[in-house]
Amino acid sequence: MKHTSSTKEIPATGEVPKHIAIIMDGNGRWATKRFLPRVAGHVKGVDAVRGVVEACIKRGVKYLTLFAFSSENWRRPPDEVSFLMRLFVTALEKEVRKMHENGIRLKIVGDLTRFDLDLQKAIQDAEALTLGNEKLTVTVCANYGGRWDITQAVNRVRAKADQAEQITEEMIAENLSMAYAPEPDLFIRTGGETRISNFLLWQLAYTELYFTDKFWPEFDAAALDLAIASFGGRERRFGRTSAQVGTTSS
Ligand code: IPE
Ligand code: IPE
Ligand code: MG
Repeated sequence: MKHTSSTKEIPATGEVPKHIAIIMDGNGRWATKRFLPRVAGHVKGVDAVRGVVEACIKRGVKYLTLFAFSSENWRRPPDEVSFLMRLFVTALEKEVRKMHENGIRLKIVGDLTRFDLDLQKAIQDAEALTLGNEKLTVTVCANYGGRWDITQAVNRVRAKADQAEQITEEMIAENLSMAYAPEPDLFIRTGGETRISNFLLWQLAYTELYFTDKFWPEFDAAALDLAIASFGGRERRFGRTSAQVGTTSS
């Protein structure tokens, strides 16, 4: 299915976001505050994912996208990077079956070629198993970068298009790694920083942004409800005036 582009057409909007994209930040600081090693925060972060996935299903959210590892996170100490990789494999092994039973389609996006082959295999298997599920699509962005995504999309377009053809917005959008999902309605970043950190650069064009000081391990259903309530109170104008919003003319 082709999704509306927010810069080409005005998308349908509602009180509950159809697609929520989250930068799960603050694991390390959550742990440090408790005199624990940073990686303890990552372990706790997996529990928070479980809670938020469950809450999204209950609230009727259709797409949940989670930034788990950025293309810049390789710059971290090797110990932390390899811990995160192992945690990723363990979480996949442990959670996929349950996710499948709960009607979740799991997608992993990013430059996966840098991962160990066993992790790549686990990813393929998980995606294949859950492919037909429709309740909620959970996308985990791993070794993902917004610039990487746009660049790979342009390269794919160039490979398919003939020389003289102009590259259009639609062509790029269709080749992004999350072309199967509508653009996010609500972006959440936990952990107090107010930046995008190379997340979904293209798709966030008209997304409502929400920042909270809560660290990711303490982000729960109640915290999600606060974000959704903030979203519900906003007027999404997509370039129009306030008077135009709510009337049929656009
Ligand atoms: C987010 O938490 C998780 C990953 C980037 C993998 P951080 O590890 O960035 O935690 P802080 O920001 O250092 O507290
Ligand atoms: C963004 O968090 C990436 C993820 C949560 C996976 P970072 O902690 O890496 O971002 P910066 O470095 O503070 O911008
Ligand atoms: Mg961080």
